[in-house]
Amino acid sequence: MVGLIVARSKNNVIGKNGQIPWRIKGEQKQFKELTTGNAIVMGRKSYEEIGHPLPNRLNIIVSRTKKFEGENLITASSVQEAIALAKDKDENLNVYIAGGYGLYKEAIPFVDKMYITEVDLVVEDGDVFFPEFDSDEFDLEIGETGGDEIKFTRTVYVRRAGEKAKDKAADAAQITYKRLTEAELEMFINMRITQMTEEYEAVGKRPPEDVDLKTALKDFYHRHMADGTFVSWLALDGDKIIGTSGMSFVEKPPYFSCPTGRIGLLSSMFTNPNYRRMGIAKELLHRVVEEARSYGCGAVWITASNMGVKLYTAYGFEHNGNFMQYKL
Ligand SMILES: NC(=O)c1ccc[n+]([C@@H]2O[C@H](COP(=O)([O-])OP(=O)(O)OC[C@H]3O[C@@H](n4cnc5c(N)ncnc54)[C@H](OP(=O)(O)O)[C@@H]3O)[C@@H](O)[C@H]2O)c1
Repeated sequence: MVGLIVARSKNNVIGKNGQIPWRIKGEQKQFKELTTGNAIVMGRKSYEEIGHPLPNRLNIIVSRTKKFEGENLITASSVQEAIALAKDKDENLNVYIAGGYGLYKEAIPFVDKMYITEVDLVVEDGDVFFPEFDSDEFDLEIGETGGDEIKFTRTVYVRRAGEKAKDKAADAAQITYKRLTEAELEMFINMRITQMTEEYEAVGKRPPEDVDLKTALKDFYHRHMADGTFVSWLALDGDKIIGTSGMSFVEKPPYFSCPTGRIGLLSSMFTNPNYRRMGIAKELLHRVVEEARSYGCGAVWITASNMGVKLYTAYGFEHNGNFMQYKL
């Protein structure tokens, strides 16, 4: 279960001057009860405000600029990655998105439940708000009321079946698969550059400005698609590319377990986050692996991202402990 937990004022304020703008005895009790023994995901600023990991639960901090590590403390570069990391640790953990604004906004389309404490207060000059959402996608359960001078009411918004953005996407999506051709090349190249730029930005860097990657990629794909040493399978929703894969073929002097000497180099594995966990990456992987088989390759090599390792291991890839690289 992926949940979201927040307290908001009558005018939707959740933060002011880097803090929660109220102190109400008992208001945070539910937070402790729900999250203890589970996982919480919070933005870097919220975490720095608290200043330490909360005990007896997995703390995942979302940041692109800082790394927090310790006992029960890890860092992720997006909400999606945070959830994947929590589920990798323990599939049964409930994951609670605990703010602030950007995390809530990213998570609302797919959370199963939103625990919203409605605080009976109007906060002037708030500077962080809870994002707008479509309440028709949820059933509302009203819970207990508490508080002394300032009252609060517990509410739970429970996602209606089939209303998850991902479910809707899966239902609406007419996923088709096709080999990359000249017709999709421009879009494919733009996607690759966006993806690689985001990988730099995720670690707080900018890609080098003096590299004309677009021209280099165009040249590469033209040459290697023409001589058959690069193939790519795409997943499309309508005419939009939502998943990519790539396989290059190289030859080494043959060896006993690979008498053709032909090796497939896997690259460009990517699925649009809104289409993940629908089996698309697995299908794309299968298609390019079969391409390598029919080219006569004896092995397929990859350099896997952390998120990719699970997919590749499930498919049957094995670690090769001595793999090293020398950068030129
Ligand atoms: N009322 C409540 O229930 C509640 C709950 C939580 C927080 N709050 C309040 O909300 C305020 C803090 O919220 P905030 O929105 O200003 O900050 P925040 O979400 O706590 O932290 C923002 C930082 O988190 C990282 N981040 C956020 N979204 C990201 C994304 N999608 N991908 C990668 N990194 C992302 C970035 O860190 P880097 O800059 O390091 O990349 C960003 O600068 C405080 O006033 C706090 O008290 C209230």
